[in-house]
Amino acid sequence: MVWFGCWIALLVVVGGGTTVVQVGGANVSYDGRSLIIDGQRTILFSGSIHYARSTQDMWPSLIAKAKQGGLDVIQTYVFWNLHEPQPGQYDFNGRNDIISFIKQIQQQGLYVSLRIGPFIEAEWSYGGMPFWLHDVPGVVFRTNNEPFKHHMQNFTSKIVNMMKEENLFASQGGPIILSQIENEYQNIEGSFHDDGRQYVNWTATMAVGQNTNEPWMMCKQDDAPDPVINTCNGMRCEETWKGPNSPNKPSLWTENWTSFLQGYGDDTPMRKAEDLAFHTTLFIIKMNGTFVNYYMYHGGTNFGRTSAAFIITGYYDQAPLDEYGILRQPKYGHLKEMHAALKQCLQPLLYGDLAIENLGQDQDAYVYTTSSGECAAFLLNNNTRESVEVEFRDTQYHLPAKSISILPDCKLVVFNTAMVSTQVSTRSRQPIMMFSSSQQWEAFSEIVPQFDQTSLRSDGLLEQMNTTKDTSDYLWYTFRMQNNFSEAQPMLRVNSNGHVLRAYVNGALVGSEHGTRKVTNFIFENTVSFSNGINNISLLSVMVGLPVGAFMESRRAGLQEVLIQEQNFTSYLWGYQVGLLGEKLSVYTNEGSRNVTWSQYSSPRTLTWYKTVFDSPSGNDSLALNLGSMGKGEVWINGQSIGRYWVSFKAPSGSPSQTWYNVPRSFLKPTENLLVLFEEENGYPLNISLDTVSVNKVCGHVSDSHPPRVNPWGVHHPYPWRPMPKVHLWCPHNRIITRIIFASHGNPSGNCKRYSTGKCHSPNAKHVVEKACLGKRRCSISHTKETFGGDPCPGTPKTLLVDALCE
Ligand SMILES: *[C@@H]1O[C@H](CO)[C@@H](O)[C@H](O)[C@H]1NC(C)=O
Ligand SMILES: *[C@@H]1O[C@H](CO)[C@@H](O)[C@H](O)[C@H]1NC(C)=O
Ligand SMILES: *[C@@H]1O[C@H](CO)[C@@H](O)[C@H](O)[C@H]1NC(C)=O
Ligand SMILES: *[C@@H]1O[C@H](CO)[C@@H](O)[C@H](O)[C@H]1NC(C)=O
Ligand SMILES: *[C@@H]1O[C@H](CO)[C@@H](O)[C@H](O)[C@H]1NC(C)=O
Ligand SMILES: *[C@@H]1O[C@H](CO)[C@@H](O)[C@H](O)[C@H]1NC(C)=O
Ligand SMILES: *[C@@H]1O[C@H](CO)[C@@H](O)[C@H](O)[C@H]1NC(C)=O
Ligand SMILES: *[C@@H]1O[C@H](CO)[C@@H](O)[C@H](O)[C@H]1NC(C)=O
Ligand SMILES: *[C@@H]1O[C@H](CO)[C@@H](O)[C@H](O)[C@H]1NC(C)=O
Ligand SMILES: *[C@@H]1O[C@H](CO)[C@@H](O)[C@H](O)[C@H]1NC(C)=O
Ligand SMILES: *[C@@H]1O[C@H](CO)[C@@H](O)[C@H](O)[C@H]1NC(C)=O
Ligand SMILES: *[C@@H]1O[C@H](CO)[C@@H](O)[C@H](O)[C@H]1NC(C)=O
Repeated sequence: MVWFGCWIALLVVVGGGTTVVQVGGANVSYDGRSLIIDGQRTILFSGSIHYARSTQDMWPSLIAKAKQGGLDVIQTYVFWNLHEPQPGQYDFNGRNDIISFIKQIQQQGLYVSLRIGPFIEAEWSYGGMPFWLHDVPGVVFRTNNEPFKHHMQNFTSKIVNMMKEENLFASQGGPIILSQIENEYQNIEGSFHDDGRQYVNWTATMAVGQNTNEPWMMCKQDDAPDPVINTCNGMRCEETWKGPNSPNKPSLWTENWTSFLQGYGDDTPMRKAEDLAFHTTLFIIKMNGTFVNYYMYHGGTNFGRTSAAFIITGYYDQAPLDEYGILRQPKYGHLKEMHAALKQCLQPLLYGDLAIENLGQDQDAYVYTTSSGECAAFLLNNNTRESVEVEFRDTQYHLPAKSISILPDCKLVVFNTAMVSTQVSTRSRQPIMMFSSSQQWEAFSEIVPQFDQTSLRSDGLLEQMNTTKDTSDYLWYTFRMQNNFSEAQPMLRVNSNGHVLRAYVNGALVGSEHGTRKVTNFIFENTVSFSNGINNISLLSVMVGLPVGAFMESRRAGLQEVLIQEQNFTSYLWGYQVGLLGEKLSVYTNEGSRNVTWSQYSSPRTLTWYKTVFDSPSGNDSLALNLGSMGKGEVWINGQSIGRYWVSFKAPSGSPSQTWYNVPRSFLKPTENLLVLFEEENGYPLNISLDTVSVNKVCGHVSDSHPPRVNPWGVHHPYPWRPMPKVHLWCPHNRIITRIIFASHGNPSGNCKRYSTGKCHSPNAKHVVEKACLGKRRCSISHTKETFGGDPCPGTPKTLLVDALCE
């Protein structure tokens, strides 16, 4: 979830209600109907791709795929805590090279929507705030607070000035057409009362004062001051949003969620292509939508410790481009076809008048007509269960349940949101390298620190983030005490603000407990056995990302209260160790691994570092580590962290929230790659495998009722192009179709997930399809009786379904 506010501030208001931005290159402005670029009204499709969540080598192909998918704009956040890790020390290198990312978007001819924030939420650690901001005297985040405003303005100016120096704003001839300040601030504005309102006002004024000469937006901010544009984030903006807060502002959807965020313990959230297409189209035709951004278009990976509390490492893998940048079909292709269909309607949509004609109880025609007679119609069936036949202008149309048909000439249907004709592709992971020999692994166990070995002391329990300063997920809380309990097994009770606790008595594990994404607090309770005399209690408190949201500077993590039976150790003498020994010695790097003595792997142990080396697999398929046999920890490849993992925390379905972890090829060298894991539980490294990730199965499905399709391979045939429905199949670049698993022309039942032949079935269907497809990377089969040498059942509506293997 991305809570943020988007504003689009406009620069100059001209007569007739048009707000204009001063320009040198493209002139970006808006009015109540739409964004206006160089005098032309426009409808823009945008997709979020975050530079820091992929590797630099992926950027060109991600941008190219976005363009092929019919996007006009790439939207990204700016990650303050990556760029200014210490006050005044900036980092714009490698994955942080936002300038290069924006220039590459420009080179490929797309626009940029820049969400500066600088608070961004984004399921990113601390919502993008650098941790040092927490220690600025008197700071209160995101309200009318001078220290905060000073640093917020400083960073905003830094970014805007960098963009200006590189001429990246549209008014300078660059690609940036929109900028955002703050992020979903409305969610917390009320908590700050009048200060909240004043902060919004200050924020808008500060942003507009940056003189970018183009609109600013605030998302989820219904009171965004003029000329900043308020925008919608959500799943169904046409239903849930009140719209622009002024008749002079257009409707922008800054976050159309293609799926949803996922935390450890959550199952994978799904959003179907049909649902996404339905609500996007409805936003455009019903709300005067002029900008729709898919959040995310490519989610990518939360490398290192960059994810927010409990958020998994793979980010929005269900987006149209998956974590690895592979097309997720049919979502990608279905949206692409929708974009092409809607772009055929631009004239009437943007310059015409709307008339809504009722076609039935839950059916309406949205008809846009220009004075010169151009016409586009959208036939809506808002009934979620029943498909219907409707009559529109003397023609019968079939409308599936909850769908919209797009008729760019008010006659021919070129797209229906519920009829997916794009192939369904199935991603598979194939183990390519096992690490199953104990000879391959070496181990180094963390030392459980005892009170006597700690140097940081306090008469009480310290807040975790303020103690670690986010240099580590780990903080040891230790104390020692005389065993004077009458019970043989006294009860140890720990109340924690989160996120995970591992309790040790005299160096032995006595139990673990953890919170969840929604409720980070938890209570640990277990009976323990003490030795006679002095005992050492060591409590490891582990965070899985910093919090996001409101009042972050005063949020607490770590231990809150510790009791043994009725004795209260909360205000006792505690000793602390920040981080792990292995972290301090950098044992996950090539050089640092020599700082400790590793031993041959023998058996699974808790709090243990494991290391091995491997050669890079040949080819260029994406790679992922299958960590299904592990518990919880972090993984490094050649010293770079690919993120936290947590497979022992099962989702309601019983599966881990994430089992496979992305290994970018750019992190690898040809031979001797160092793989290091830190495992907190007793995971079993011998079952880890390195897998290739690729599409190995493709399936297509069309019916007589399908509208003709937009050419799937890039060229949008101008209307009125109307081919026969076809099944188009295509394998990834390095694969060909080696087997037809299923082919039926007739009335097969089911869909690409599950199917069987029906009563009506062309006997030679499989043969015909094999002839057309085997040995090829791409093939298409027309859904006509001629293709199959005759009609197997005249009068019955027919379907063609083909499922094929790519190898
Ligand atoms: C920018 O576009 C607006 C609206 O189309 C127009 O009124 C204004 O004159 C243009 N400004 C420049 C500098 O071209
Ligand atoms: C931001 O702060 C730094 C250090 O305090 C200062 O050097 C710099 O000039 C400021 N930048 C802006 C754009 O205000
Ligand atoms: C917003 O700020 C402007 C300029 O500082 C001021 O004139 C105006 O009264 C403020 N509005 C609110 C609601 O605080
Ligand atoms: C949101 O996206 C879905 C699919 O991506 C689309 O159907 C829907 O129309 C979009 N909504 C808006 C308002 O763009
Ligand atoms: C859409 O724009 C037209 C023309 O500006 C306006 O009359 C209409 O009220 C707008 N509709 C909505 C839902 O905002
Ligand atoms: C469709 O139906 C839903 C639920 O009944 C309703 O909330 C929504 O406003 C309807 N949409 C349209 C465009 O009629
Ligand atoms: C953070 O720690 C410092 C001492 O290092 C202390 O002075 C300060 O009060 C602490 N702040 C919070 C919020 O705990
Ligand atoms: C047991 O030891 C604790 C400190 O370790 C002390 O506070 C407490 O009074 C002792 N209780 C008895 C019954 O001696
Ligand atoms: C507790 O720690 C101290 C110092 O590290 C050690 O001497 C002592 O043996 C430990 N006690 C137990 C019961 O392990
Ligand atoms: C334990 O001590 C802490 C701090 O001294 C106090 O806040 C807490 O209420 C005590 N707990 C119990 C059960 O007495
Ligand atoms: C760990 O190894 C690195 C590289 O060999 C070295 O620079 C560093 O000083 C070592 N650290 C410790 C604490 O030994
Ligand atoms: C993989 O290799 C093939 C041919 O060797 C090339 O066409 C393709 O672009 C490469 N893909 C990537 C993602 O590098």
